[in-house]
Amino acid sequence: MNLKQALAEKKKLTKKQLDLFKGSYDIVGTIAILEIPQELVKKEKLIAETVLAQHKQVKTVVKKVGIHHGELRLQKVKILAGEKTKETTHTESKTRLKLHIEKVYFSVRLSTERLRIAQQIKPGERILVMFSGCAPYPCVFAKNSPAKEIYGIELNEEGHRYGLENIKLNKIKNVKLLQGDVRTVVPKLMKTEQPFDRVVMPLPRDASDFLDTALSSVKNQGIIHFYDFVQEGEFPKASIAKIETACKKARCSFNVLNTVKCGSYAPRRFRVCIDFEIVW
Ligand SMILES: C[S@@+](CC[C@H](N)C(=O)[O-])C[C@H]1O[C@@H](n2cnc3c(N)ncnc32)[C@H](O)[C@@H]1O
Repeated sequence: MNLKQALAEKKKLTKKQLDLFKGSYDIVGTIAILEIPQELVKKEKLIAETVLAQHKQVKTVVKKVGIHHGELRLQKVKILAGEKTKETTHTESKTRLKLHIEKVYFSVRLSTERLRIAQQIKPGERILVMFSGCAPYPCVFAKNSPAKEIYGIELNEEGHRYGLENIKLNKIKNVKLLQGDVRTVVPKLMKTEQPFDRVVMPLPRDASDFLDTALSSVKNQGIIHFYDFVQEGEFPKASIAKIETACKKARCSFNVLNTVKCGSYAPRRFRVCIDFEIVW
């Protein structure tokens, strides 16, 4: 029985209230994350208790307060029921990820996307993950691909600290995490490192501002995974146009390998990824 059916069955919510409620939620480790519309605030504890009763693995139920905000893309939440903690350990693709849901960005909805890229990685590849957060991309790649070496760069100090913990938690030896702004960290890194085989850019809101940095770190015939948000009808041409502008400036050409929709962000607005190969 899904949540809406459970709420309807015991007449916990009226038909009108049920129509206002989406009924879908994310489960990160032991924490269920709900979206409660303003009109249902008086029913939020009851909804949360119902979620708690429905899932043995859920120990805490929270609701989102506002939306992801700021440079660090953080999301505030309020605890509604269960244990009073915002820290948990989530498992995806043979990888354990410890995180505080308010202190670092993390989305369970990107697990398929992380695995999609992991499955493209060839033996011996060296990879750079810009905007690595608590290191879900680096850790999933390390556990599910034959990559030789993976670098992750994250601005958020708390997120970086969880990333370091996650490397230990998963006994990973081929991931190196650096804390700081990719704009300053990448140029320093490239003084000692060879250009990378693959660069991943999971910052869809602003990724085009960082395409120059990504291009400066990728080798000839290397691949960039560029995330973007686009309006329905503009996919994939709006994102490819951004890539074209950046490549022209950097004096390289490119071949688009894949264009994928990997989530919806708002009505008729999609999170997309363009995989493209660079030719210097
Ligand atoms: C959308 S989140 C993705 C995090 C992680 N890759 C994941 O999938 O869970 C983008 C991340 O980029 C980080 N960030 C934003 N600007 C940055 C910059 N200039 N340099 C490094 N990291 C940055 C944010 O702190 C945030 O953790």
